[in-house]
Amino acid sequence: MADLEGLKVAKNYHIDEPFANQNGFYVKGANSLDWGMKKHLSNIFNPKSGNTVMFAFDHGYFMGSTAGLERLDLLLPKLAPYVDVFMGTRGAIRTCVAPEISKGIALRVSSGSSMLQDDLSHEVVAVDIEESIRMNADAMAVQTFIGADGQLSSIENLSKVINAGFRYSIPTLGVVAVGKQMERTDRFFKLATRIVAEMGVQMVKTYDCENFEEIVAACPVPIVVAGGKKLPEREAMFLAYDVMRKGAKGVDMGRNIFQSTHPVEMAMTINKIVHEGFTDEQAWEFFQDMINQ
Ligand code: 5RP
Repeated sequence: MADLEGLKVAKNYHIDEPFANQNGFYVKGANSLDWGMKKHLSNIFNPKSGNTVMFAFDHGYFMGSTAGLERLDLLLPKLAPYVDVFMGTRGAIRTCVAPEISKGIALRVSSGSSMLQDDLSHEVVAVDIEESIRMNADAMAVQTFIGADGQLSSIENLSKVINAGFRYSIPTLGVVAVGKQMERTDRFFKLATRIVAEMGVQMVKTYDCENFEEIVAACPVPIVVAGGKKLPEREAMFLAYDVMRKGAKGVDMGRNIFQSTHPVEMAMTINKIVHEGFTDEQAWEFFQDMINQ
């Protein structure tokens, strides 16, 4: 292991230079993957735009029934036409998603914490690869706590899932978690996002932060950005527009859709930003038109 003495701070991100190893397949870092992996990735990242709108409703795995997710059976069919991927737990998907709804599936496979604890960083791999195969998952999502007490076990969980994913050609989504004691700085997200990518995931979910372009440039796989806590709709639209502008390949948005006053119209609007390049102003106008119809 390189010693940490005199570590030089990275600074040459060549932000304006596109990713060089991408002459075979449109998803970043997936050139050398096999057909099955690429097939799953094409169920997540739209082949035309290269981007994705993941609707995240996996919050129940540690929050129980949270506001806006009380009735997944009613909500999910309404949002399905406007999102590319359902990101949820095995229990939510098996009970509330009709199999005939052809949607990408990002299956949350790690769990083990609840909001009753302070330290959420100790999870296990709760869903095995056979279950991911049975559910035809297009990605397996693993929470990864860099810098927290559960760092080693979460990287072990991530590695186990990646290893199984390569065996059976199912991509892994590395979910960068931000524990209470972690700093939401670009320094943290640069470290955490790159560590997760170096473990061998096919995509990373992380958060927006300062110098986000540098995080994108330094990450050899696509980044999707979590919406995070509920914002006013206009601000959530700006978040989506801003991270897409800076190189994210999509959003993994939950609360800013399911806690919106108009979840369906919000999903429609986020879809316009991610796939049609709407600015936040255009999005806000579209959203107003939709809700005033
Ligand atoms: C919950 C998650 C969510 O999938 C992720 O944070 C996206 O949801 P939101 O936009 O509500 O943050 O990892 O643990």
